Amino acid sequence: MDHYFEEEEFNTQFNGHTLRRIAAQAKPHWRGVAGFVVLIALVSLNDSVFTYLSKLIIDEGILAGDRARLNQLFIIYGSLALVQAAAIFGFIYLAGQLGERIQYELRRKMFNHLQSLSLSYYSKTPIGWIMSRVTSDSARISELITWGLIDSSWAVFNLSTALIFMIWINWQLALIMAVVMPAIVIIASIFKRQILVQFRRARKLNSKLTGAYNENITGVRVVKALTREEKNLEEFDGQATSLYHAAFRAAWLSALFLPIVQLVGAVGLGAIVWYGGWQIEIGAMSIGSLQAFMGYLTFMLFPIQELARVYAEMQNSIASAERIFSLIDAEPEVVDRSYAFDPQTVKGDIHFDHVDFFYDEKKPVLIDFNLRVKQGETIALVGPTGGGKSTIVNLICRFYEPQRGVIRIGGTDYTSFTLESIQSRIGMVLQSPHLFSGAIRDNIRYGRLDATDAEIEAAAQLAHAHEFITAMPKGYDEEVGEGGNLLSVGQKQLISLARAVLSRPEIFIMDEATSSVDTLTEALIQQGMETLMHGRTSFIIAHRLSTIKKADRILVIEGGRITESGSHQELIRQQGHYYSLYTKQFQAEAPHEIDQLFEAKPQPTAEVR
Ligand SMILES: Nc1ncnc2c1ncn2[C@@H]1O[C@H](COP(=O)(O)OP(=O)(O)OP(=O)(O)O)[C@@H](O)[C@H]1O
Ligand SMILES: [Mg+2]
Repeated sequence: MDHYFEEEEFNTQFNGHTLRRIAAQAKPHWRGVAGFVVLIALVSLNDSVFTYLSKLIIDEGILAGDRARLNQLFIIYGSLALVQAAAIFGFIYLAGQLGERIQYELRRKMFNHLQSLSLSYYSKTPIGWIMSRVTSDSARISELITWGLIDSSWAVFNLSTALIFMIWINWQLALIMAVVMPAIVIIASIFKRQILVQFRRARKLNSKLTGAYNENITGVRVVKALTREEKNLEEFDGQATSLYHAAFRAAWLSALFLPIVQLVGAVGLGAIVWYGGWQIEIGAMSIGSLQAFMGYLTFMLFPIQELARVYAEMQNSIASAERIFSLIDAEPEVVDRSYAFDPQTVKGDIHFDHVDFFYDEKKPVLIDFNLRVKQGETIALVGPTGGGKSTIVNLICRFYEPQRGVIRIGGTDYTSFTLESIQSRIGMVLQSPHLFSGAIRDNIRYGRLDATDAEIEAAAQLAHAHEFITAMPKGYDEEVGEGGNLLSVGQKQLISLARAVLSRPEIFIMDEATSSVDTLTEALIQQGMETLMHGRTSFIIAHRLSTIKKADRILVIEGGRITESGSHQELIRQQGHYYSLYTKQFQAEAPHEIDQLFEAKPQPTAEVR
């Protein structure tokens, strides 16, 4: 399942199951579909009648010199043209409307589903992949349902009405057509297939190239900092050249397609003129009939090309559909159990009981992890990068669930609670806080949607975010930019803190930003956190000396295990990992404190199991 986002994995052959699912998308709109199919049938019938009228005009009007008949035929021709115009307008309008609806529904369905998926899906699936499902693939499916259906039904109706009229006029000539037409169909389909293969190659290369663009643009700072421009350009050049070649081959084949179809058509036309001319000579056929026949032949060439095109595009759309369905079918890994309930509160001790956890089966992160945290306790998690600190809080938030063992909240396995009941009662400030584009005020309101402006400002004040917000030109109405990129990391954390305060959480989690925050902001964050931690079970992934010192208990997490546990003084006295990890930092931050620590009195060891 790891690489399911790669295009190669998708079957591009006709797949009945997928076709049925695509049809199911159109099913609620069957009235619209039936409407435009009927209109298209009308258009095709009219087209055939026009050609037949031309026969009558020649034979019964012009050649017979019958003025009255000619006038009559012109009136019929004119009124049919009006009906034709109205029918064409009708089906294009209906199809456009249907296409938009289907696209809207697909996008809505995907958006909804994406929100329900667990974090594990996002860590495995590139965002770019998801974005092209939502944009280009949904457009392609709606095109298949509308224009694919229009073109193919139009082609089928056109071919069959033309054939009926031809048999009616002269069945022997129609027989010649019956030989020529299949030849064109076969050649056209073979060609289209080849063209498609080339186009698909080009598209695959194109998406690789887009990926390269994407990485380079989003990582532009790093690229510049590492002076990778030269090397990246080389790689880019290689990919762009292959794309050029694939696109060139596709264009070459496409250019060849039309002349060949027309050549075969011309051979058919020659056969008709030759046979028809002889028939006219012996008096077995009228000039108008021959004219109509040639009309029908050219008239049939176009739908055949259309059919070949629709067939080719349909395979593409089916691949699109399979990708969309794979997204819609992706099951969230963390789901509510059928018996899940809302405990009304998640206050209580938190207990990791023999927990095993991995993101990737081959790389266990936590093995037999045990931890008991008392209600109201403040836990500081420290340790080397990649040790498992964020993983522990991810598990508490139930973004992921343990593969083995149990996490209990207040003595109950937390998988018997609904996800919403847990997550809505946890306030979190993440390592790289995410803000949504919009005003600061609305970003804080995310904590509790029904909060009033006064409550929002009160929360910001408690979080000590109020000062910096009011110092901005538009205050609470200041726009934060996409992902909050107009603010500094420290400011984003302060806003996330305010958001957490507003949500009045029962458990508070903070993954401190490691990036340097100025001393003033740092002090503000510290004060805001203290407000929030008061009386709440809190897990702080701490880098700051001040936070760590105030914690009830410090856990050193290394390689997914608790290697040391105790208060600041205790751990310093043990002179273990914590001591060596932090003496350097402490010396830099507050050198005098090291000496004080050794003079501190011994304290009882906190319980760990
Ligand atoms: N989404 C993920 N998918 C796969 N592996 C992951 C994922 N997140 C973390 N890991 C792996 O799990 C291990 C623990 O990572 P974790 O993020 O918990 O570390 P951390 O202690 O928070 O580190 P840091 O101090 O750098 O934030 C690491 O080996 C990491 O590579
Ligand atoms: Mg982390």
